[in-house]
Amino acid sequence: ARADALPRDMEGKRVVVSAGGTREPLDPVRYLGNRSSGKQGYALARVAAQRGAQVTLVSAHTVALPEPAGVDVVNVGTALELREAMHKAAADADIVVMAAAVADFRPVSLATHKIKKTDQDPDPVALTRNPDVLRELVVARSDGKFDPYIVGFAAETGDESGDVLTHARAKLARKGCDLLVVNAVGDGKAFEVEDNAGWLLAADGSERPIALGSKAQMAAGIWDFVMKSSTSRTV
Ligand code: CTP
Ligand code: CA
Repeated sequence: ARADALPRDMEGKRVVVSAGGTREPLDPVRYLGNRSSGKQGYALARVAAQRGAQVTLVSAHTVALPEPAGVDVVNVGTALELREAMHKAAADADIVVMAAAVADFRPVSLATHKIKKTDQDPDPVALTRNPDVLRELVVARSDGKFDPYIVGFAAETGDESGDVLTHARAKLARKGCDLLVVNAVGDGKAFEVEDNAGWLLAADGSERPIALGSKAQMAAGIWDFVMKSSTSRTV
């Protein structure tokens, strides 16, 4: 869609979106990463800017994507860097969206030199938990540090303990955010493809499917929902 064909309903809104996947270094040449392309987060940033918002895009590693026009881009590498950038940017934000795939774990230590192979098997890689940035933002808000509407993402598959929506509802409750955007993954869905399908689960218990479409269409649907719910938010 052409920018001038879109509504300017986000004018005056300060929006922060995280995108891409963090990389957790093991040594100067290796890292633990994930397959997030960054496309959904970039689409959210681009569409918000086209609708008039002032947008900060906290970008971890992505496939080669053009910088969305009129967006402030803050590049980060690790989960800890992303955390710092998000807390800083959230301070004066109206809406914060955690679309990034944040590594749950990082290597305990970072080797200063390249780890060399020997004729032995390597030591196991010791990992430690990364902070849950989304959860921390929710807690910081309840501590009165800032007051944005907070959106999380979840890519879920069903398993023996429950289907996609069961897992997603539990995740929404655990995170305490206002909205969880749920992507059904598996069968080649969501990762590294252009189209997403999923649900919007809101903290008030409302649930609505989002139709299969381009990531730009998904972004538009997410912003429509956020603009409706963030203006009626009472907490
Ligand atoms: N998230 C985060 N910090 C982390 C891990 C995840 O902020 N260390 C955010 C993601 O950006 C996303 C949401 O939390 O918005 C859900 O991420 P997900 O990986 O689905 O949830 P986890 O709580 O890590 O649970 P699990 O991976 O075990 O399903
Ligand atoms: Ca995770």
